[in-house]
Order: sequence, then structure tokens, then C-alpha cells
Amino acid sequence: MPPRQKPQSGKPAKKSPDIAPPLLGWYDRHRRRLPWRALPGESADPYRVWLSEIMLQQTTVAAVAPYFERFLERWPTIEALAAAPLDDVLRQWAGLGYYARARNLHKCAIAVAREHGGRFADNEEGLLQLPGIGAYTAAAIAAIAFDRSTNVVDGNIERVMARLHAEETPLPQAKPVLKALAAQHVPQRRAGDYAQALMDLGAVICTPRKPKCVLCPLLQKCRARQLGIQDELPRRSAKAEKPTRYGMAFVLQRSDGAILLRRREEKGLLGGMMEVPSSEWLTGKRSDAQLMRAAPVAAGWSQLPGVVRHTFTHFHLELRVVAGSLRGPPRGIDGTFVTLDALGGEALPSVMRKIVAHALLHPAQPQKRRSA
Ligand code: ADE
Repeated sequence: MPPRQKPQSGKPAKKSPDIAPPLLGWYDRHRRRLPWRALPGESADPYRVWLSEIMLQQTTVAAVAPYFERFLERWPTIEALAAAPLDDVLRQWAGLGYYARARNLHKCAIAVAREHGGRFADNEEGLLQLPGIGAYTAAAIAAIAFDRSTNVVDGNIERVMARLHAEETPLPQAKPVLKALAAQHVPQRRAGDYAQALMDLGAVICTPRKPKCVLCPLLQKCRARQLGIQDELPRRSAKAEKPTRYGMAFVLQRSDGAILLRRREEKGLLGGMMEVPSSEWLTGKRSDAQLMRAAPVAAGWSQLPGVVRHTFTHFHLELRVVAGSLRGPPRGIDGTFVTLDALGGEALPSVMRKIVAHALLHPAQPQKRRSA
């Protein structure tokens, strides 16, 4: 028999605390009721689980809930969603951000409905083959919908692991370390409940600020708490500042109040969504006269007071807004006029809604007329 390998330090390897029993007990008493979550004793519906996990990528539970309900009411099955025109899906998605996710959601629905008989793969490898499903989402769906023992690690779970193990390596470098630590705890039974219990613990108890340690089922096992450093973890490397981009948006209204919108290019940021025409969004400020060259039509334009600000993943955006009125017929103008009543049904991203709201709230100042 080969000699037993000793750990390199000469000390026995530390055993990870068994967190599943107290965590699952806590979950049975305190689980959140979420619209996509099966009730105790019910089995999870893979369609609902998948839809919620795609919506929850980079978005909060509170923001997702009304979207989830509307999607499910309109498209109760994967087949219904697959049969929907992409434009309708984008319209329903408007406001959730990251529009490539909505396109991939639709692609995935088509693939599952047409190529897989309407059934999702029941394991990580199969799920990873589908559009829009990456490593985290595959692990989450496999656990929650099919009770597979996968290692589901989102931002909340990273924080729980960093504290439980008093891991001081800063994020994002700590990511693989935290994932490896999380892997040691995944139970063989009730893997879906376990993953959701960790999510709930991170959202409700082990919060980024002021964690509610006295209510925590893992209090006795938490190294950070023992060392009194739970508020300091996880550590983070200094982030590079997001740059700011600047531009000008053009709100052109017809005499009935309808607003000119265009469709953005399919590729890139907000791809395929509707927009209020605007100049390029450039790092560095330009003069109003330079920006006015991007006006969609020669009209009397009036600059509105204030600016519209919006933050994307990689930059802040600051837009000045000019307003114009179209008197005659809309000859040679690229785009469509949409009445104010119909704006709600358009695939109009949040930043564009902010621009329209800004224009409606700040009537043009006659003394600052500009022409293009
Ligand atoms: N965040 C990501 N997936 C989630 C889920 N299924 N429940 C709660 N929060 C989540």
C-alpha cells in the first residue's frame, strides 16, 4: 500500500464545517416566498427556474419580480415564449437592462422548444450548451430545478463563504478561492434547497453591511465572526473609476406630441432596442455646436435645462437634451413617431425613458434656441 500522503504543511487538513444541516433547518423556517420558487413539497418547474435565473443575472430580486409575473402571464410555457416575436420579448424586457440577455432568452426558448421537445437538460453539461446559459446559471438551474449537487456561487454566496472561512484575499482575485471553499460544503441531498438557502442567507442575514449575526444559523461556525472582522469581509481590490461619456439627445415631437424614435443597431450596447436619436457618446466634452451636428433633422432646437445621467456597467453617461417640434410632414426622417400613450409598449431602455421624461418635465426655454 502506498504511504498516506501528509498535507504539505505537516498539519492535518482543516475540516470544513458541516453547514448544510443548520442552514437547511433555517431555510425550512425562514425561506423567502418568491414568485418563481416552488412551495415546500412542490417540485420546481424548470421553465420558471430558468426564466428567473436569466432575469436575476445582474438584477435584484425586487426589480425582477414584476417582470417575471408579466412574462409568465403572457408566455406560460417555453413553447409560448418560443413562438413569440423577438420584438414582443424585447418590449416586455425593456427596463431590465442587458438586452443581449433577452435575445439569448428567446434563442434558448426556441432551441429548447424545437430541438429538445420542450424539456430543459437536467444537468450542468447539457444546460451549458444552451444560449445564454453560463457556468453560474447552469449550476443554479441544475440544483434548483433538478436537485443536482452543483456548486452555485453568486455574489451573495461569495460573501457568505468569505466570512465563514475568514478569507482575506480581496475580490475579484478571491473568486476561485471562494468557489473552492463553497464546493466543500455542497450536500448530496436537498442541493436545490441548499443553494437557495445560501442565497437567502446572503440576502437577508449575511448582508453586505451590518450582517445580522445573532440571527444566523451559522453563527457558531463563522470564523470572521469569531475574529470580529465580519463587517470587513469580503475585502475588495480598489476598483478602477468608471469613465463618463457625454452626448446630446434630440427629442423631436410632432404636433400631436408623438416622439421620434429609431431602432438601434442589432449589435452592441442596447442592441436592437428603440432609442431617442442622440449624438455619439464620447469620453470628453464637446461643444453644443459640435454635438448639434448629430441632430436627426434641421429644426429649431431648444436646449433643455439640466442633464440626464445614467450608469451602464462600464461607464457613466451624461446627456444634454434638446427639444424640437416638427411642423410639416416628417419627410426624410429616419425613424417612427410614437405617441405618448404608445411609449409604454415600446422596447425603450431605461436611459431612453429618462430622456423622454426629462423632455416632458422640462419644457423648452425659448431664449436658448439652437438650430442644426
Ligand atoms: N439570485 C439568483 N438566483 C436566485 C434565486 N433563485 N433566488 C433568489 N435569489 C437569486
